[in-house]
Amino acid sequence: MSAETAKLPPPFRLITRRAIGSTNDEAKRLARDGAGEGMIVWAMTQTAGRGRRGRLWVSPPGNLYFSLVLRPQCRVADAAQLGFVAAVALTVAIGELAPNIELRCKWPNDLLANGKKISGILLETEMIAGDRPDFVVIGIGVNLAASPRDVAYPATSLADEGVTGVVPEVALTGFVEHFAEWLALWREDGFDPIREAWLKQAAGLGEPTQVRLEHETLAGRFVDLDNDGALLLGMPSGNRRIAAGEIFQVTT
Ligand code: BTN
Repeated sequence: MSAETAKLPPPFRLITRRAIGSTNDEAKRLARDGAGEGMIVWAMTQTAGRGRRGRLWVSPPGNLYFSLVLRPQCRVADAAQLGFVAAVALTVAIGELAPNIELRCKWPNDLLANGKKISGILLETEMIAGDRPDFVVIGIGVNLAASPRDVAYPATSLADEGVTGVVPEVALTGFVEHFAEWLALWREDGFDPIREAWLKQAAGLGEPTQVRLEHETLAGRFVDLDNDGALLLGMPSGNRRIAAGEIFQVTT
């Protein structure tokens, strides 16, 4: 699929690259140069793919790597909600391709397939003056054909789970179609319907959970998702709001 042949709903449009450092870096560069909402940078491989918390995102051919530019007219605090919009849309899109796999949303924006990580989302925001984002880049990696070993959280791919032959362009098109709908809903009705859909698919809701922060690890129960996307961790001292961190379910 090329930029010419892709059938994407407006305003989404594609720039394709065979190999690139990071699609997020390229999307940010183009956004700084004025690229409008809906531009998507899609690459077959990345040589410097980035994950959250400075981690590397190993990017062999066969998997899906892309980043899209949004210019939401929202407060910067609300921009993080777009990661949940993307996670919900991706869950629906992958669910259509792999109806027999159990898909779960892992806080904040990961997707699990049969309990292992199949996709990660890296959301990056740049500001203009005041409290408004200039643009938001949502970078998504989906393991279609291969998954990394030796990672903090066990990983899988569609192929590992027995669903072979899903090519990146099909997964990308499916995602964009659903994302356009969920984005419109977010713009019209706010975070509530997104939060509700995400919670229906959430991994570990109500269960004992460990949250790894930069300098400490907290243990509690995953009680709820706050209305700005923070995780509410129930602890003996009361609920604690976690805005950023890594969660691990505790097996009892
Ligand atoms: C994570 O789970 O840590 C987030 C991973 C995000 C990876 C994607 S691949 C496409 C885009 N480009 C990058 O460099 N990172 C994101």
